[in-house]
Amino acid sequence: RVHPTPVVLPNRAATQVVAHRGASGTFAEHTLAAYKLAVDQGADALECDVRLTADGHLVCVHDRTVDRTSNGRGVVSTLELAQLSELDFGSWKGDPVDWTDTEHTAVLTLERLLELATDCGRRVELAIETKHPTRYAGLVERKLLELLHRFDLVTPSSGERSPVRIMSFSQLSLRRVRELAPAVPTVFLTERVPLRFRDGSLPHGAKIAGPGIELVRENPGYVAALHRAGHRVHVWTVDDPEDVELCLRLGVEAVITNHPRQVLDQLGRQ
Ligand code: G3P
Ligand code: CA
Repeated sequence: RVHPTPVVLPNRAATQVVAHRGASGTFAEHTLAAYKLAVDQGADALECDVRLTADGHLVCVHDRTVDRTSNGRGVVSTLELAQLSELDFGSWKGDPVDWTDTEHTAVLTLERLLELATDCGRRVELAIETKHPTRYAGLVERKLLELLHRFDLVTPSSGERSPVRIMSFSQLSLRRVRELAPAVPTVFLTERVPLRFRDGSLPHGAKIAGPGIELVRENPGYVAALHRAGHRVHVWTVDDPEDVELCLRLGVEAVITNHPRQVLDQLGRQ
């Protein structure tokens, strides 16, 4: 007797929609305006990249330098917060909002982003990526966790899902977070199937894998391996509707997108 293959229906309601650098398809990435829009649009979580300034503040900037995303030049880690605060991080992307409100164009500190997320009237999770943390001998992770503690975001493992997760391409960073705060879930980011972990296992107690969408397209079996190993899968950066459908078919737990509203619409979400 032939058993029909069970049809697995994508669970549209359960898939988290994460705003990548805010609603960065619309407003300049990592600006307060981009994050406020993502919150207003109904994103479940906010993704951001963090770097240390010369005077030890965590700011949300993707690149090593400010050249692409501001009207200034220079390496983030060599500039002080006051110097970064003089720059305009908004207007390079056209003029979709009123950028005369300098709070929207100023460099965004992680502290300000946490204020927004914890004070917006509903649960909005955070997916925070440490960028090139190897340089600072653990300072990025220590400062980050200090700040998360201050906002009461490091919850003891009570079975309830953590409101925050820390992501990195750097295994060293994941290890440090695990040592400093085992209650905070970590996300192992990767652009290729890691040889050592091709069975779906993850390094340093990471609970979640963050494969890039190209990898998922080329190797959907890796997602299945991750799931078999009991891990959650958060895919980036998923903007194309066909990629969203692929992620749903594979049952991924979160899609990280520059266009949160568009993806929420595709999922039939409010
Ligand atoms: O969410 C993970 C993703 O953001 C990693 O790539 O270059 O956009 O930081 P990148
Ligand atoms: Ca990122």
